[in-house]
Amino acid sequence: MVVKWDQKAALASIKETFTGKDDILKQSFERLVPAMEKKREEIKAAGPNYIPTCEFQDVIDNNGRIPDDVVKRVRDTGCLVIKNVIDDEEVLQYKKEIQEYWYSNEERTGKKVRSIQNAKALVKMRQHPNLVKAMIAANYLWHDPSGKADWVPDKPMMYNDGCRIRLPGNPGGMDAHVDSGGIDRWFLDDYRQIYDKVWEGKWEEHDPFIATQRVELDQASNQLFRAFQGWVSMSEAGQEKGTIRLCPTIREQTAYYLLKPLVDPEITDKRWPYLQSMGLREELYPLINECLVTIPDVQPGDYVLWHCDLSHSVEYTHNGEKDSSVAYIPAAPMCSLNAKYLVAQRRTFLEGSSCPDFQFRHEDPTFEPLFENRASEEDLTEVGKQLMGFAPYTADDNDDERTKDVVAKCNAILGF
Ligand SMILES: [Fe+2]
Repeated sequence: MVVKWDQKAALASIKETFTGKDDILKQSFERLVPAMEKKREEIKAAGPNYIPTCEFQDVIDNNGRIPDDVVKRVRDTGCLVIKNVIDDEEVLQYKKEIQEYWYSNEERTGKKVRSIQNAKALVKMRQHPNLVKAMIAANYLWHDPSGKADWVPDKPMMYNDGCRIRLPGNPGGMDAHVDSGGIDRWFLDDYRQIYDKVWEGKWEEHDPFIATQRVELDQASNQLFRAFQGWVSMSEAGQEKGTIRLCPTIREQTAYYLLKPLVDPEITDKRWPYLQSMGLREELYPLINECLVTIPDVQPGDYVLWHCDLSHSVEYTHNGEKDSSVAYIPAAPMCSLNAKYLVAQRRTFLEGSSCPDFQFRHEDPTFEPLFENRASEEDLTEVGKQLMGFAPYTADDNDDERTKDVVAKCNAILGF
């Protein structure tokens, strides 16, 4: 399914929405620029160490939650590296299995693919008990001040993403951008509401971690709510080794890319973000680009997480001696929105095709259904079945009434 999008109509509607707010937005932006510049200096001084990290064992020792001092840094930066989530030897074995599956099928079918999503080893990682614990800890960084959101952070749902195996010298860099939609952030009423404080000229009060509206946000291009985008490293990676760069100042950078098109005449209609692509070119969004920093060195089995609003890029340089490889596995909580996605994803998983979001993005068909030795329902553990909508979640005795209600609703959506 590819949605036809009327960019012109969307822009006209946005302009109408923001009519009369020029002064408030401009004044707010004038306060934001020096705040971003200050962050830029702090980030430059610290380098990759600016990105918060913790050991998986610290999470376990803290009752399955991210340690408090790290939480503070994640709320400020919008990202986190959890070290040693899966044993490195185990991950290297998974990578080997992924490569065997990928390359042998390409050779057999004569079909080249950009990424694969249905290797058995990918499923093994997605349902790995430690990774599930890490996803839950990440989901808990979000909160619901209304107390009314229908979501359950400790019952995660899975997004069957792909993987990247990048050999030294291989292209594969990406300019700064944000995922989870584009112009819909200004255009869709429900999406715009998430940034109400920014539109009121009070970006300082914007809380990026409120789940309340996100768990109901129905977007055409990103149908599952990902609290954090994420990947498990399948190799060593670090500066100049073809890895990710993040803009670790979540509140400021979000306000910056939201306000800039509204206050900067250089961002003409043609340069506005589109439906699902939100490129942040250096000449139009300089401060975002100046704040980007490479993540600290990671080893196989480390889990890198970044907020769904966080700008990021991928290094064009890969001077390492080995591959730079990742398995994309985001953290997503249980909610009705995500349960609906699982219904569609169950079908694509059984077919071996790319997950529903990817079908929206690419008109060309995936060739993975032609591949042999794909993952199937038989490869799912009990936990894996729940994560992917093949078995119902159960509420525990100590779950509150709201949680029990959400579990029942999601199970009903999934047909249980
Ligand atoms: Fe991205």
